Amino acid sequence: MTEKKGIRGYGQGGVDAVISVDEVARQAAAIAEEISIEQLDALAGNDSYVNIENLVAGYGKMEILHNVNLRVGRKQSLCLIGPNGAGKSTVLHAIFGFNNIFSGKITVGQGDNAQDVTALSPNEKLSRAGIAYILQDKSIFPGMTVEENLWMGGFLKDKPAEAKQAAEMIFDKYSRLAARRKHQAKVLSGGERRLLEISRALVMNPDVLLVDEPSIGLEPRFIDMVFEILDDLQNNEGKTIIMVEQNAKKGLEFADIGYVLVSGQVAIAGKGSDLLQNPKVGELFLGG
Ligand SMILES: Nc1ncnc2c1ncn2[C@@H]1O[C@H](COP(=O)(O)OP(=O)(O)O)[C@@H](O)[C@H]1O
Ligand SMILES: [Mg+2]
Repeated sequence: MTEKKGIRGYGQGGVDAVISVDEVARQAAAIAEEISIEQLDALAGNDSYVNIENLVAGYGKMEILHNVNLRVGRKQSLCLIGPNGAGKSTVLHAIFGFNNIFSGKITVGQGDNAQDVTALSPNEKLSRAGIAYILQDKSIFPGMTVEENLWMGGFLKDKPAEAKQAAEMIFDKYSRLAARRKHQAKVLSGGERRLLEISRALVMNPDVLLVDEPSIGLEPRFIDMVFEILDDLQNNEGKTIIMVEQNAKKGLEFADIGYVLVSGQVAIAGKGSDLLQNPKVGELFLGG
């Protein structure tokens, strides 16, 4: 909407190259293309797993998303990029059930097995629909140990033992986390903390991961680590990933599918690799 979080531009260049959020939004709106549902279906291999149909959603009575359609196939990854305030996080919030859906439909599953999840609560999304939202920032309990934080990821499981069992599988997979299991979470490095945030979502063994800005606040070497972890989860564990990434280059290099979201609408959609080559995307979101 019109409310802005700051005057920081989107570009990654120097101060001279940074243009205001308003200007990015205006230019981004100007590059919007006609997008057909057939095109979105094709990007998802005509067999989409997560399906958003004409979604109108927002906060309170405020409409932020206007008729958003999204398709992502099973074991695919999709990255949303776009100006600050475009509604990228709101799309993830809508999928997980954090905001108000005024109309439209969200389904998970292929073909006849598609389950309508539009009205499910976040807890139901996690326990019944296999959708996990990776909480960041202040979501880790600093005074609790790494393993206690991980067990918290299983709070919806019927038996605490099941959460502990799932945590052991995660420790087997991520030795850097296992080495720290008895340490308080507050001593973790930024990269380790992000790994813990991702791991905690894995305790429920979700099929779909919603990831909001996985690279935010991380040093470059940890950014690469996080994308390697996500790559492994997609390609070796078969997770379907929908992410938002301010670092558009990283996000589009990673994702099979890229959408540019502008003012609550999908303005451009394509393969991630194609969007990287798209001069309009490059100029606005890839630092020229
Ligand atoms: N919890 C909230 N309550 C009310 N408005 C919100 C809330 N979160 C975000 N918004 C508004 O929704 C719009 C889209 O925000 P957001 O989805 O966070 O954008 P993006 O992730 O693309 O930067 C912005 O105008 C923002 O101010
Ligand atoms: Mg956001």
